[in-house]
Amino acid sequence: MQTSSAAKHDTFAEDVLKGLSSEPKSLSSKYFYDDEGSRLFQEIMKLPEYYLTRAELEIFQTQTSEIFESLNAARAEFDLIELGAGDGTKTSLLVDYFLRQNADFHFVPIDISAEALNFLTEKFERQFPALSMKAEQGDYFRTLETFQQQSNRQKVILFLGSNIGNFNEQQALNFFRHLGEVMNPQDFLFIGFDLHKNPKTILRAYDDANGVTAKFNLNLLKRINRELGANFNIEEFSHYASYHPTERAARSFLISQKAQTVFIEALNQTFEFEKWEPIFMEISQKYGVRMIERLAEKSGFQIVKNFFDSNNFYTNSLWKPAQNHWR
Ligand code: AVI
Repeated sequence: MQTSSAAKHDTFAEDVLKGLSSEPKSLSSKYFYDDEGSRLFQEIMKLPEYYLTRAELEIFQTQTSEIFESLNAARAEFDLIELGAGDGTKTSLLVDYFLRQNADFHFVPIDISAEALNFLTEKFERQFPALSMKAEQGDYFRTLETFQQQSNRQKVILFLGSNIGNFNEQQALNFFRHLGEVMNPQDFLFIGFDLHKNPKTILRAYDDANGVTAKFNLNLLKRINRELGANFNIEEFSHYASYHPTERAARSFLISQKAQTVFIEALNQTFEFEKWEPIFMEISQKYGVRMIERLAEKSGFQIVKNFFDSNNFYTNSLWKPAQNHWR
């Protein structure tokens, strides 16, 4: 686990070097979330165009009892584990319902960011004084591995907010296979997938009229300027969003508006940008139900139930390890 900020900086610098030295150039969207990036993401989630958060919230608001029943949550003690703490709005609906049903569970938010965890735990302590909760800071897999070794309590793992969409299909497959290795046969995985729909609706979600998503992308260049001593001129890059309907992938890019050279002090290196050269910033993969079924099967899971919002824009898919996967 990386704890020192120096170590964190090294990885950031290395990843920026690797990305800007590749063809096409790229930057990893996992670095979007500094303080300003997290604030901008909160703003995105409230945008009229960004339907994802509302769709998932609707599922959690209207189908809580069905979710509870599918998890068999009334039966035995379990750990409710959330990967990526977020602001806890959706999880709070589950937690509230579970507590009112007298379910015997511990809430374990796991996140790499101590700040995100502090925010969430303080909020939940205030909102649910009776909740048993223990936040874990660090790498998802290492934390889950420890859990698997230390207790045989059932685990219900939440991976919400369409975070899986920020992996391409191969990365998603690797992620689930790896998760399967740290899960026991009785455990559950509950995942938020954004579904494919009218391509225009999807494109608008990543190209909002007020330019918040553009700021969100450009903020990564500001972060590189600040943390790695670079001299990106933010005015000379513009946000470009695309949606590819056959690949079902939304992608965002920053496009260099002119031929320009950027110096990054921490790397002691310059990078040349041609006029109109793109930097690939982020993938937001969308899914069809059959794609989800294939993904579950290929990664050793079976689908217990898919929960849909009223527009069929989004699904929360409940998985358990496939029976035949356990030798
Ligand atoms: C966090 N993640 C699921 C968001 C998404 O929809 O891909 C990040 C985002 N990027 C632009 N808008 C929102």
